[in-house]
Amino acid sequence: MSKKRVLSGIQPTADSFHLGNYLGAIKQWVAMQETHDAFYCVVDLHALTLSTSQTDPKLFRKRSLVAAAQLMALGLDPEKCTLFIQSQVVQHNQLAWVLECMTGFGEASRMTQFKDKSQKAGADRAVVGLFTYPILQAADIMLYDANYVPVGEDQRQHIELTRDLGQRFNSLYGEQLVIPEPFITKAAAKINDLQDPTAKMSKSAQSLAGVIDILDAPEVNIKKIKSAVTDTEREIRFDEKNKAGISNLLTIYTALTGKSISEAESEFAGKGYGDFKGAVAETVVTYFAPVRERMSELMSDEAELQRMLKRGAEKAEAVASQTLKRVYDALGVVPRG
Ligand code: TRP
Repeated sequence: MSKKRVLSGIQPTADSFHLGNYLGAIKQWVAMQETHDAFYCVVDLHALTLSTSQTDPKLFRKRSLVAAAQLMALGLDPEKCTLFIQSQVVQHNQLAWVLECMTGFGEASRMTQFKDKSQKAGADRAVVGLFTYPILQAADIMLYDANYVPVGEDQRQHIELTRDLGQRFNSLYGEQLVIPEPFITKAAAKINDLQDPTAKMSKSAQSLAGVIDILDAPEVNIKKIKSAVTDTEREIRFDEKNKAGISNLLTIYTALTGKSISEAESEFAGKGYGDFKGAVAETVVTYFAPVRERMSELMSDEAELQRMLKRGAEKAEAVASQTLKRVYDALGVVPRG
């Protein structure tokens, strides 16, 4: 039986992915390349909606390469999955336009991420790309006939829109597009900010003191973990409601060691918060040491990295071009003679 197809994307908006990106998403991507026909893309076009991506071309370019290299260093194997940079496969923009022509203005206006982001930017500064962002995402997904889309809960609405657009297209033009399902693993470790352990770890946090960047120097991350906010009790016990900080550290510790929460609780029974934080810091640093090493290897040969990404883009394009042809033919677009 052939494997089910999955597609997911991640924006290259930082110099390093953080622990929340890894444990909440990328770790599943790595596992799914074994069980699924997996397509993963660095969505640089989506990142262009951020004004910070537009002010520094050198940085924008570097972040796309660093994001792709990090995905490899974290375990995505270009032999097992199709890993590529979105802008290198032009069909994304082409299918997006078709879908934009089928999306209601009101429908796009109801996307909560659009509302949040455009509100933050202010009416005058918010760009049209923010408005069409979810439609480009729908194109990313349906170009590859993806059955599942591994994403966080915050993306559910975009996947719903994708399904609506796919169904709309199919009801007008016959079964052309595969309707995807969100793949939102509840079990996936949700990592919170070390300084504000009730909020999700996020690169847009006010202060980066609570965010563990995977590529940061060991000293930096050890310090951040040792300064994590906890509580005034002394017991190392999982209780998200009353002990958010300790629970978050337990989640990190167990996700990286594979131990269960109760194993970890008994391991640290009678020990102090200082010892526990030391063990968590040690675990994090040891876990990512080989990733940092592989990363500097990959970045030291940019030509080779680009060659690997070119192969990924070619594999992706082979699928994407067929889908686009199907869509154009169904629409009655005249093929070039
Ligand atoms: N919007 C997604 C996010 O911010 C990124 C993304 C773009 C994506 N295209 C995608 C995710 C396609 C899944 C599938 O997380």
